[in-house]
Amino acid sequence: MSFEFIKVNPQYAKHIALIELNRPKELNALSRQVMLEIRDTLKALDEDDNVRVIILTGGEKVFAAGADIKQMADATAIDMLNIDQFSTWDQIKKTRKPIIAAVSGFALGGGCELAMTCDMIIATETAKFGQPEIKIGTMPGAGGTQRLTRAIGKVRAMEMVLTGKFISAEEALQYGLVNRIVPAELMMHETLGLAKQIAAQSPVAIKLAKEAVNQAFNSTLDEGLMFERKNFYLTFASEDQKEGMAAFVEKRTPEFKGK
Ligand code: CAA
Repeated sequence: MSFEFIKVNPQYAKHIALIELNRPKELNALSRQVMLEIRDTLKALDEDDNVRVIILTGGEKVFAAGADIKQMADATAIDMLNIDQFSTWDQIKKTRKPIIAAVSGFALGGGCELAMTCDMIIATETAKFGQPEIKIGTMPGAGGTQRLTRAIGKVRAMEMVLTGKFISAEEALQYGLVNRIVPAELMMHETLGLAKQIAAQSPVAIKLAKEAVNQAFNSTLDEGLMFERKNFYLTFASEDQKEGMAAFVEKRTPEFKGK
């Protein structure tokens, strides 16, 4: 796979794919082309049986400084409606395999939203998160008001969205926005470690479990519990569940095949 603004390695490690944003002069600003490339890549990786986990990073200097302001500065509301740029973001949400964001440096506006659309976030000490759209006369449009609020709570999200202030990696960890903080030079090593742990599990169970966790944001507790129960039962239709439990009984490491 070859693109202009992202680098893709479908076999970064066994069963693990890597997507790296590659628009350094613009601090990885998420132009429509960048988002189309991410969308097409995620769709392909989601369909690739060799891939079990996807890592998304901007590299060590910057994750992404948001949607491309220059591209939308003169747009009318109807231009925005017709361009429908956020439909490309829906693919990220639709991706059934786990996506881990490895965030170093700025993750602002659409960059923060992109990280939050992923399933987990590994941050480096230099990571800074923010929704600064208010400072340019607009507001978050790719999920910032919804995902940030769910992740860190109303009053913190309100302050970030209404003032545009950035939070440090430490604050992000304290607020529950990121999984952990690692030194920048260990970012990929640590992210890969997490990806490997997930890639070693049953891909069937992983997909069903991810879907069930996400259901928590879209349903009442009773609906969510019922959804979880059905997915739990469904794992018993898989060879992986038989293999996993047999391996436990036989005191050996299971070999999951995604079937
Ligand atoms: N869009 C387009 N270009 C951007 C950009 C963005 N979001 N962010 C940075 N750039 C460009 C700059 O224009 C600059 O280009 P030139 O060299 O051609 O002038 C280059 O990247 C380097 O940026 P700076 O010189 O500004 O770097 P800095 O280190 O002084 O500041 C920064 C870094 C604080 C991140 C600053 O660039 C900044 O505030 N960027 C904008 C952040 C922002 O407002 N993001 C929200 C965008 S709107 C959005 O995302 C909507 C949504 O919900 C989807």
